Amino acid sequence: MQILDGKALSDLIKSQIKEKVSARVSAGQKQPHLAAILVGNDGGSETYIASKIRSCEEIGFASTLIRLEDTITEAELLGHIKKINENADIDGLIVQLPLPKHMNVEKVIEATDPNKDVDGFHPVSVGRMVQGLPGFLPATPNGIMKILEHYKIETSGKECVVIGRSDIVGTPASILMSRNNNPGNATVTLCHSRTKNLKDHCLRADIIISATGIPNSVTADMVKDGAVVIDVGTTRVPDATKKSGFRLSGDVDFANVAPKCSYITPVPGGVGPMTIASLMLNTLLAAEGK
Ligand code: GUN
Repeated sequence: MQILDGKALSDLIKSQIKEKVSARVSAGQKQPHLAAILVGNDGGSETYIASKIRSCEEIGFASTLIRLEDTITEAELLGHIKKINENADIDGLIVQLPLPKHMNVEKVIEATDPNKDVDGFHPVSVGRMVQGLPGFLPATPNGIMKILEHYKIETSGKECVVIGRSDIVGTPASILMSRNNNPGNATVTLCHSRTKNLKDHCLRADIIISATGIPNSVTADMVKDGAVVIDVGTTRVPDATKKSGFRLSGDVDFANVAPKCSYITPVPGGVGPMTIASLMLNTLLAAEGK
């Protein structure tokens, strides 16, 4: 069993980006610039945004964080997005999700200039991904592809079960795994809350990608010997032994599943750091597109 070390791979990718940025700046080009909007103060979102901004600083990107109260109107948020769209110095924009309930997420996502859509959430980006055209790939699924690629894990012709059909992870991961590409070319089954016989699907899988946010929902009896298990879950569960009062739990019962696997991602230190590395890659791509 080998651990897929997303933290180490993320550090490697970020150091490669840092070199490219310093070469760009030495050549008189501008620093790539990422803008992030955080509405409200959801604990998880605060943590993710803080590490995105920290990564920008580490690799030499400029960053702008716009913090907005969760009482602002959708129109006010759209106004901020419009200003960023029109700001030629800003290459990439992310609006951290989830948004407060009174906002229409689709409308907010569609308001982002597709050329700055470094989250890969805009329908233009999603359409380009489905058609295999160059564009911004969503960060978490692309991070998974980078892990599979780096560790030279064969995906072609393999049975892949994706659990969870969110727009952000499950659905795009299923598309990337099935595309005629490497990694890709897998036979993909997308399982979700209405799937009747999840265990039977999982037991056929050479590769399981779980993205439900339900701790310990992938158990050893669902995993065949030698499977590759990718755990996208990062759920906060109470833990009195931690200073913060919580720890992060994946979807996978790691202690019992790991011994059966050929490869498995840990939580934390697996897919999570790769999400940030992919976002940084997209931001560099956005800057280079100018
Ligand atoms: N919320 C959970 N994952 C993501 C992500 O990749 N991007 C944004 N903007 N919000 C998220």
